[in-house]
Amino acid sequence: MPGLSTDSALLQPIEIGTLAAKNRLFMAPLTRARSNDDGTPTDLVVEYYRQRAGAGLIISEATQPSAVGKGYTNSPGLHTDAQQAVWAEIADAVHTNGGKIFVQIMHAGRISHPDNSGHEAVAPSAIAPGIQMFTKEGMKDIPVPRALDTPELPGIAAEFVDAARRAVAAGLDGVELHAANGYILHQFLADGTNKRTDAYGGDGDNRARFVIEVVEAVVAAIGADKVGIRISPGSPAGAISEEDSWGAYGSLLGALDGLGLAYLHALVDPGAEVLSRIRNAWSGPLVVNAGFERELTPAELEELVSAGPADAVAIGRRFIANPDLVERWTIGAGLNEPDAATFYGGDARGYTDYPFL
Ligand SMILES: Cc1cc2nc3c(=O)[nH]c(=O)nc-3n(C[C@H](O)[C@H](O)[C@H](O)COP(=O)(O)O)c2cc1C
Repeated sequence: MPGLSTDSALLQPIEIGTLAAKNRLFMAPLTRARSNDDGTPTDLVVEYYRQRAGAGLIISEATQPSAVGKGYTNSPGLHTDAQQAVWAEIADAVHTNGGKIFVQIMHAGRISHPDNSGHEAVAPSAIAPGIQMFTKEGMKDIPVPRALDTPELPGIAAEFVDAARRAVAAGLDGVELHAANGYILHQFLADGTNKRTDAYGGDGDNRARFVIEVVEAVVAAIGADKVGIRISPGSPAGAISEEDSWGAYGSLLGALDGLGLAYLHALVDPGAEVLSRIRNAWSGPLVVNAGFERELTPAELEELVSAGPADAVAIGRRFIANPDLVERWTIGAGLNEPDAATFYGGDARGYTDYPFL
């Protein structure tokens, strides 16, 4: 494979909020489940992110803002001082190696099991996802979550705010609010999971309301330039159904576009019509990830940024297997293959032992 040309759009810097990302090949958020049971990242996690500082921007794995918001075993949190201290080490390691990092804040909502979180799950409505999830005792059915009462919603928003403040205090460059892939913010947006009869359910404006309030609260706390958001309209990932496929997103982007957020991250098939709707509704930086179905070639990624709607692209599995992915693509070197068996949990194998060039 030929290397990228030096004037490749993918290798040009881009302003994300007030920071200058050195290239447009971002690392997508990737849950790797190597943190301690209490949500404190381990030294291995620090090393993993240090190795990947060549990305224009690292977007961290999904990180819970509270114990109730935890979905998966061994996922990191950012709601205790001990967790924050290790995130500070991660930020330092990435910065020392010339990189930038946002932490992805994810409240799992109904995609959670009491065996993993120690708590009953909460969600916009009491509807089980109808799928199983991994627990330390094997795969289990996910129970019906408890529907949040209206007066509880500011408390959930406050958890996002607290984690965002901790992110900044730890020296991280910003936060990505996870409103994609079926977790709590997406559960509010989607009509299949949100059957509320208060001001937070019903039409698109109402379903977008809570997500807008969370974004506004986080922006008020840490500044819009440090806040990104990820959406996945049209994707069924996370047991999501969206019969009204655009309504809530039109409302959401209409409200967010004027806030001056660092970026919008869309997980969408680049061929889907929804991508042009998103681009029309969004005047800020747009990061595109093509989703699980097909990995785009470097030439296709280049096209998406140079001629297409994206300002940057996020790459997942190839960053798992290639800590030096940007360098490899720059010079046209071959890639290591990712090992799916070691994606979630375990030790250094399949995590920090992928070879550099
Ligand atoms: C092991 C693994 C873990 C993932 N964890 C997350 C996550 O924590 N948050 C998120 O928004 N997406 C997550 N994703 C989705 C990726 O960000 C990305 O959208 C997906 O892998 C498709 O991109 P790719 O083809 O470049 O890998 C995960 C994907 C994989 C393979």
